[in-house]
Amino acid sequence: MKEHQVKLKILKELSQGGFHSGEELGQALGISRAAVSKHIQGIQQWGVDIFRIQGKGYQLAKPLQLLDESVLKQTLSAPLELIPIIDSTNQYLMDQLPELQSGSVCVSEYQAKGRGRRGRQWVSPFGANLYLSMYWRLDAGMAAAMGLSLVVGVAIVEALESLGIDGVKLKWPNDLYYDDKKLAGILVEMSGQAGGAAHLVIGMGMNLAMSDTVEGIDQPWTSLSHATSKTIDRNQLVIAFIQAWQNALLDYEMMGLTGFVERWNRHDNFVGRQVKLLMGHRDVEGTLRGIDAQGAVLIETDQGVQAFIGGEISLRKV
Ligand code: ATP
Ligand code: BTN
Repeated sequence: MKEHQVKLKILKELSQGGFHSGEELGQALGISRAAVSKHIQGIQQWGVDIFRIQGKGYQLAKPLQLLDESVLKQTLSAPLELIPIIDSTNQYLMDQLPELQSGSVCVSEYQAKGRGRRGRQWVSPFGANLYLSMYWRLDAGMAAAMGLSLVVGVAIVEALESLGIDGVKLKWPNDLYYDDKKLAGILVEMSGQAGGAAHLVIGMGMNLAMSDTVEGIDQPWTSLSHATSKTIDRNQLVIAFIQAWQNALLDYEMMGLTGFVERWNRHDNFVGRQVKLLMGHRDVEGTLRGIDAQGAVLIETDQGVQAFIGGEISLRKV
């Protein structure tokens, strides 16, 4: 059995709830108590809080609902792989681009090298969040790809609303916010040649119930558990997001951003608020007025309303 298969089996036992002694876990897996203790340390390094009480054994600090590939596959038509431990779900799909069917999905419980825009790290502890990527072939080519993070963002907010979770907002061009804090990020990566189809991998990381003790996030962040008092079923959430993405991407192929602009603006976290655009060579400060039909962000300054677009722009509140 591979090293992390053993850890996953231990986690499966612990996710049933209650205390599990080292002896019981060792017997179930055919390993020594010392080996169990070593694996528990490894699991803690994945970001799972486990405590041990002398004479009782190990228990998860918080309940853990694992993703279940058979549950996901029962409902979804898209080809799907659940790879519990991975470097990056986006990278996994990018590495297989020529062989993939459009709509193929990869989900994971833990990313060792989760990434955001421009090589930044996406903190990806085990089981607390969602890490989800989809490959999409866009015949319209690379120029149409810019709109994708917008379309997918709208689809996520609306999918949450249909599950009764309100108040999740959008931050141009690729973030989801709740309560003015970052809840999720979208990363669209691309391969293709001018004139040909664009091969896109769309990835989303969403915090569901991330521990306050995580390190490495240098901005205010939150988890979906703060937006709802209901228990979040992780498998149902994955299903809802994948279905919403498929529908939104098909609509986008047919109609472009028409139909998404107004929906984006309705959910934009910063409409009517003072923001700053960081563009490397210069910053622009003004009031955010939503997005236009091209997906550019609109900023009102003394010079009137100006549109800005491009992957190098970052938006900050002031
Ligand atoms: P930009 O506006 O340029 O997109 P950003 O700060 O949102 O800026 P991204 O590259 O989109 O940057 O996202 C990566 C950043 O997100 C990291 O630098 C970190 O601050 C933050 N981050 C990393 N992991 C998480 C997480 N699990 N939840 C919330 N925020 C995270
Ligand atoms: C951002 O805010 O910059 C985007 C973060 C995107 C994170 C997701 S998690 C699933 C997929 N795999 C990755 O390595 N990144 C994306």
